[in-house]
Amino acid sequence: MYKSKIGGIGMYVPTNIVTNKDLEKIMDTSDEWIQERTGIQERRIAHRTNETTTTMGVEAAKIAIDRAGITAQDIDFIVFATLSPDYYFPGCGVLVQRALQMKEIGALDIRNQCSGFIYALSVADQFIKTGMYKNILVIGSEKHSFGLDYTTRGRNVSVIFGDGAGAVVLQQCNNESGILSTHLHSNGNDAETLAMYNPGTHANYWKKDLASFDEATIGEMFMSHSMIDNAQNFPFMDGPAVFKKAVVKMPEVILEALQANNYKPSDIDMLIPHQANLRIIQFIQHSLKLADDKVYNNIQYYGNTTAASVPIALCEAWEKGKIKTGDLVCLTAFGSGFTWASALIKW
Ligand code: ACO
Repeated sequence: MYKSKIGGIGMYVPTNIVTNKDLEKIMDTSDEWIQERTGIQERRIAHRTNETTTTMGVEAAKIAIDRAGITAQDIDFIVFATLSPDYYFPGCGVLVQRALQMKEIGALDIRNQCSGFIYALSVADQFIKTGMYKNILVIGSEKHSFGLDYTTRGRNVSVIFGDGAGAVVLQQCNNESGILSTHLHSNGNDAETLAMYNPGTHANYWKKDLASFDEATIGEMFMSHSMIDNAQNFPFMDGPAVFKKAVVKMPEVILEALQANNYKPSDIDMLIPHQANLRIIQFIQHSLKLADDKVYNNIQYYGNTTAASVPIALCEAWEKGKIKTGDLVCLTAFGSGFTWASALIKW
């Protein structure tokens, strides 16, 4: 059995910065509310036509591939995590294969929202462990800005999210370092608590008990005028419900990873949590009794970039020299599904 290690890492964020003050001009919100509730000060918003989820992923991937000391031709497999794909189908993985003019390798898209990158990493890790592949490109990328309601009606969701991408090249290795274990979980009972119902094929099948479903407009077609007229094409989130689960499940899955490898919280050199809300991260930090310099945060500058949040934070922390060879690094995420996950890495 082989092991896998992160051989190269990269990130890409659009240059366009949108501050909380900018949002105040287009909806009834305030810099104070957003900072107090989430910690977010600003986020990046992709260019409307020149940047897509795939193109941002490709830019992050180029850096990761270069840092791994290989070329795009050396990649054996692509795993792409996103909830905001360029097309409903095909997935972004094949668009990356085309953009980077790679060999006719396999490309897999992962739909696990905020946990997507760790799920993708876990899938790639299994392929490397079995010896099937040697170099796997793992990407997390989101262009949220194209699908959010930037009016007062959608303020509880739209102020939180931002655009960006992160990527790693996972490579075969034989030594003590690398990915020690990954831990994946889901519970579909809360699937509709944080979801974008439309466009979809649900046809009202699951709508029982859902106040947010509008009888008149939902389920008549995959996509309809009334769906758009009634703003049923935007994500729905019961924020407080998500918050309550996130602060329980993320510490739980971090402890699961530590116990599986005979470590304790004080052994963590750097925790890279999904950047959904600074208050959630602080809650996890305090429950595990971690010092400030053991937890990396950048939600202030990017907001929640869903599948891109963990690789962007990991990349920044590494670029700033906060992760060194031999460090014990823990990744964790929680989000829509609900799904949650962790990965423990000896860097
Ligand atoms: N500006 C001003 N006021 C607002 C805004 C806004 N942008 N959004 C909501 N409000 C109002 C609400 O209408 C409400 O008003 P009311 O009291 O008059 O009814 C009030 O602020 C409080 O709203 P809450 O939703 O209770 O605020 P809360 O403190 O819970 O913060 C938040 C909301 C930030 C969304 C928080 O619940 C949260 O972060 N939840 C977790 C999100 C998360 O982790 N998501 C998972 C990842 S995303 C994914 O997987 C795709």
